[in-house]
Amino acid sequence: MTRRKLVAGNWKMNTTRSEATALAGAVAAGVGASPGCDVAVCPPFPWLVPVAEGLKGSAVALGAQDVYSEPKGAFTGEVSPGMLLEAGCRYVIVGHSERRHVLGETDSQINHKVHAAVEAGLHVILCMGETLGERDRGLMERVFQRQVYSALAGLTDEQFGRVVIAYEPVWAIGTGRTATPEQAQEAHAFIRGKLGSLYGEKIASSLPILYGGSVTPDTAAGLFAKPDVDGGLVGGASLKADAFLSIVRTVG
Ligand code: 13P
Repeated sequence: MTRRKLVAGNWKMNTTRSEATALAGAVAAGVGASPGCDVAVCPPFPWLVPVAEGLKGSAVALGAQDVYSEPKGAFTGEVSPGMLLEAGCRYVIVGHSERRHVLGETDSQINHKVHAAVEAGLHVILCMGETLGERDRGLMERVFQRQVYSALAGLTDEQFGRVVIAYEPVWAIGTGRTATPEQAQEAHAFIRGKLGSLYGEKIASSLPILYGGSVTPDTAAGLFAKPDVDGGLVGGASLKADAFLSIVRTVG
């Protein structure tokens, strides 16, 4: 089964408006008309619309960094899946470790967000990964099992077609400490195995699993060469067009 690869840039809470549109423009120009993989950028909410305008007609897709689980109503500060679609988003990141660990998001909230997003037609980049403490205590497999089950429970086969997983070990995010290609492959293969036992082989073999956590132009090639690594979710290095493009070219 050949899985479509994806490299997505998670800009987190960075960029001014003019930096965001310039970065998106440089990425779109550098990627060209037919990159060898899917490419997306995920700017902060206020820059989605200006970045979408700049990406029109390009091969680069737009993604948001979070979404709420209800279509509308009295939810001050939240943004619905429909709003993201109307702003031009194809993707949304759900369950990023910064939302889980800094902002206290729960597995159940993440499951509701995944459902709301795929039902609306968005493609979800679902993040999961263990903390250093969990890895040291040998709890990785239990953590993956819980995260894979709780986030994706109840999706239809058709909705699974709009899900991408990003394995992001918490200890590798923003630390400069990348997982080795072997560590990434081991985790991805385990997650894929869990997908198979919970949701069936067809879903397990077709669902892309990205690696995220200190991906750089130097580490990308080794990671992306592994059979179960289907691209990357890039933080810091996605804020520089040259570095991000060089990571994209590693796949394409
Ligand atoms: P860094 O690439 O900066 O480590 O961030 C990874 C990440 O959290 C992407 O979502």
